[in-house]
Amino acid sequence: MAGPLENKNVVLGVTGSIACYKAVDLASKLVQAGALVDVVMTYGATQFIAPLTFRAITHRNVVTNAFDINSESAIEHVSLAHRADIVVIAPATVHCIAKLAGGLADDALTTTVIATLAPLLIAPAMDANMYDHPATQENLEKLRQRGVVIAGPAQGRLASGLMGMGRLLETPELLGHISATLGRKGDLAGRTVVVSAGGTMEAIDPVRVITNHSSGKMGYALAEAARDRGANVVLVTAASGLAEPAMVKVVPVRSAEEMCDAVLERVQSADALIMAAAVADYRPSIQADQKIKKSEDDLSIALTKTTDILQAAKGNFVRVGFSAESQDLVKNAKVKVQSKDLDLIVANDITDPDSGFGRDTNKVALIGRDLQVEELPVLSKYEVSNRVLDRVLTLFRS
Ligand SMILES: Cc1cc2nc3c(=O)[nH]c(=O)nc-3n(C[C@H](O)[C@H](O)[C@H](O)COP(=O)(O)O)c2cc1C
Repeated sequence: MAGPLENKNVVLGVTGSIACYKAVDLASKLVQAGALVDVVMTYGATQFIAPLTFRAITHRNVVTNAFDINSESAIEHVSLAHRADIVVIAPATVHCIAKLAGGLADDALTTTVIATLAPLLIAPAMDANMYDHPATQENLEKLRQRGVVIAGPAQGRLASGLMGMGRLLETPELLGHISATLGRKGDLAGRTVVVSAGGTMEAIDPVRVITNHSSGKMGYALAEAARDRGANVVLVTAASGLAEPAMVKVVPVRSAEEMCDAVLERVQSADALIMAAAVADYRPSIQADQKIKKSEDDLSIALTKTTDILQAAKGNFVRVGFSAESQDLVKNAKVKVQSKDLDLIVANDITDPDSGFGRDTNKVALIGRDLQVEELPVLSKYEVSNRVLDRVLTLFRS
């Protein structure tokens, strides 16, 4: 299965904000992800960025004038509006937001928005006082009520040099919002999926931990793929250093015990639990209050077994486990399906160079209750996620 943006018609509206330069990166990343990007610029936007920049990046005409006699289509805004799978306005100025809230259509962009039935996503960018202004807040609320997705803004350093709310979201976050919005009526719409990710950390003392090499990338890919098919996703994560996926409920944890508590709390109202996290099997029996000093040549740390989260999580939901093995992959995974009473196990051989920790690809085998083995080729973790979710969907339906 291709990525969520492959062959999607994205109309990218760009308005007159200082953050216009970031829209160039967004357009580029959309094109790289396989989207067909038609840029519509307001007059204000053309004062910041030359249309030629977008023309060169998208390889398509850029619309700047609703009344362009040389336009390819006689009624450009209507043909764009009909073709669009999504209209994204990034950055969206206060002025543009006000016009949209009022239903105005005095330029190519606002006319396209009024003429489309595609979902509309806007990413505001402005100075903090402009964002906080009651008029802006009322206008944003009006748009939200109409089903418009408002992505951001973020808190941070603004062009004025002040700190505050008003920063345009960064490109990866915008891409996440766009993918999620495109997929919101997907085959997992209405389902809640709890995913765990990352390697847990078990404290030895205030300084040291026992952990493992799990990066969390597989769990994050699962969370994004489920989101992009319309699911409500809760991501219980012990990973560090990965960007939070947009439009996913993220629950950060550290230890196996914290992960267990967080999963058990959230899974009761879920349709599926996918445990992609590498949860410690053992934790130090005692966590020292103070840093353990170096003295003896040898140091022994007594360990206690942690709770097996998949075994503890019982209820009316689909249960999927992951099995990372360095030997006897299929044999060990089959034992786990039965001993943990799982609906599906995803077995990956961590010794395979294309698989496992920290990589963007994975080579896995899927094994269900019938113990039939479905070997998948090397795929991106996002594609592996979709294959897992296909099986989860079949389990929902059965
Ligand atoms: C240097 C400069 C930076 C601006 N940055 C922003 C901004 O970040 N957000 C905003 O809402 N307006 C900003 N404005 C004001 C808008 O450009 C102005 O309201 C304009 O009418 C917007 O028109 P448009 O929405 O049709 O592009 C800026 C203006 C200037 C001169």
